[in-house]
Amino acid sequence: SENRNTQLYKGHVEAAVFYHRVFTLTDEGKPGREYAANREFTKDQIDQFQIGFAPIGWENLSTFLQKKGFNPKDLVEAGLLAEREQSDGVYDRFRSRLMFPIWDAQGKVVGFSGRLVGEGKPKYLNSPETPIFQKNKLLYGLHLARAQIRKSNVAVLFEGAADVVAAWGAGVTNGVATLGTALTPEHAKILRRNAETVLICYDSDQAGQSAAFRSASVLEQAGCIVSIANMPVDLDPDDYIKRYGAEQFQTDVIGNGQTVMAFKMKYLRQEKNLQDEGERMVYIEEVLQELAKLPRAIERDHYLRQIADEFSLSLDVLKQEQYRMYKESK
Ligand code: CTP
Ligand code: MN
Ligand code: MN
Ligand code: MN
Ligand code: MN
Repeated sequence: SENRNTQLYKGHVEAAVFYHRVFTLTDEGKPGREYAANREFTKDQIDQFQIGFAPIGWENLSTFLQKKGFNPKDLVEAGLLAEREQSDGVYDRFRSRLMFPIWDAQGKVVGFSGRLVGEGKPKYLNSPETPIFQKNKLLYGLHLARAQIRKSNVAVLFEGAADVVAAWGAGVTNGVATLGTALTPEHAKILRRNAETVLICYDSDQAGQSAAFRSASVLEQAGCIVSIANMPVDLDPDDYIKRYGAEQFQTDVIGNGQTVMAFKMKYLRQEKNLQDEGERMVYIEEVLQELAKLPRAIERDHYLRQIADEFSLSLDVLKQEQYRMYKESK
């Protein structure tokens, strides 16, 4: 109900203040501060994103909020506390984690993403689905990035909160992220309402590349123009910025998006030796298959010419072959 949701919102506001204060002001916050310093988060980033620390121990937030008069049942429903299994009582869901508050589009805190400080699993723990936190339509950072997304007409899509925060520190302030979920048509619709173009900037590992293709297709179906950032193998945006700096991130990654097709071609060739005739033929065949899926003849033609040039093949032969595949795919 309306009333219940009010309690959920209030609990989140108080929790965000609690975690941020523990982080900035207390002895218990020291592991969080050390961890953040290691990750090179600046004071600006910590303030802008209200980063906090959930201290070690089972009942820190629980005690704090119950003293303030919150009902433990509401806090469990909010996903801030969990119910004990063996006995009565509740405990803090987030412990020993660097805390990223998650805001809804209006800027209300509706959940948290917690990065474990120290060893253990899971590395990231997010709030569960609640009446105020629905992951399939929530984009982390949107309320902060929206003005810049609209102004630039581009939204940069990252995998996670840490990447958004790192990018913001590097001057890329139109970034958002889904949190541990695949991009949904709802996410895509929200992005399309704010910008014409989406630049996907996922991790460059295998998982990130596959996810980029899936997200690209969802975004294109929502009417977005999609490009995909280019990152050296096995880095994520956060790692990249740390290693190469803000300026190079802006020019070589954010300023250097590729079309989905160009990215696919790079992906298809990365494991092949194109000096080998057999592997080269497989590559060309795979590219033609992908081209057959493109709806626009102009785009197909562009890449056919590129392949013809690169491998000294007859454009006519490629066109015939490609036309055959195009018909078969119908
Ligand atoms: N993520 C999440 N829930 C998960 C897994 C991942 O919300 N169960 C989000 C996190 O915000 C994370 C992002 O997805 O930042 C990318 O995940 P991953 O690449 O595995 O994180 P790392 O970059 O390895 O994490 P870190 O840099 O903190 O070591
Ligand atoms: Mn502060
Ligand atoms: Mn990853
Ligand atoms: Mn990553
Ligand atoms: Mn990372």
